[in-house]
Amino acid sequence: MNKPLIHIGEADQLKIYTLLDDYSGYESAFLGHHGISLLLDVASGKENKRILLDVGQSADPILYNARLLGIDMNSIDMIFISHCHYDHTAGLTGILKKIDREIPVIAHSTIFRENYIVNPYLRNIGITKENGREAIVENGGNIVLVDDPFNLMQGVISTGEVNRVTDFEIQGIGTYNINDGKVVPDKIADDMSIVLNIKDKGLFIVSGCSHSGIVNIIHHAVRITGVEKVYGLIGGLHLIEADDERIEKTVDALSNMDLELVVAGHCTGLKALSKLQVVFGDKFQLLHSGKAISISG
Ligand SMILES: [Fe+2]
Ligand SMILES: [Fe+2]
Repeated sequence: MNKPLIHIGEADQLKIYTLLDDYSGYESAFLGHHGISLLLDVASGKENKRILLDVGQSADPILYNARLLGIDMNSIDMIFISHCHYDHTAGLTGILKKIDREIPVIAHSTIFRENYIVNPYLRNIGITKENGREAIVENGGNIVLVDDPFNLMQGVISTGEVNRVTDFEIQGIGTYNINDGKVVPDKIADDMSIVLNIKDKGLFIVSGCSHSGIVNIIHHAVRITGVEKVYGLIGGLHLIEADDERIEKTVDALSNMDLELVVAGHCTGLKALSKLQVVFGDKFQLLHSGKAISISG
């Protein structure tokens, strides 16, 4: 293996609270809404930090679910935005308003671009004006735009822009930029994930939509950290529009990695979820609002 690009270190404990997922859970009091928001509570040595990955498309259900979970939004230390799409970003100012001090908002440098779909009609599905640069700063967000792998705390990194190497993880989801009157396919290069290295367990991937391809993300995480054991993952795998071949190859690749825990939801899609359930058995869990997970060394 090549020399690692980044020294990740180790985290002692990770607790994840699902503040939002598309699914509310069975017999659950939590609210489901299209989007995702995961609160990571990480202990590393003497440090304890709370990192919020993504903020859904509205702050309301997130704040409602946080109240049920007994989480004070003021306890959040930083916000990490996985990519530009509205279902991950449009709750941002609403969340920042509930935090009474300045906090970092970490994202890729192209996060503020427009990102159009044309099906079923022309629509910008990127970050909204209400959550643009000015609104973020006005509401106490300290914008940190970083495309390279980046340490968030001991044992926790951003993947930065993900190297895409697999041939079966289709690049892009049919979104476009319009530059100087030209329509250019947008490969969502801003898709970034958080990676933890949990003591005695290995790498744990926390993704928003995995637009880079979950297998690419994992290969990238291993390559940049030099840590070969991958413990598991949580997030959206964006296989909802994937054909059977891609789903099969993705699940095959994941099953060859000896993952101990696979928690998937949001944009993963029923076909892929059911395949993951069959292949991973007890090691698979369905993501839903209110779901809490704890992993420690
Ligand atoms: Fe997305
Ligand atoms: Fe999404």
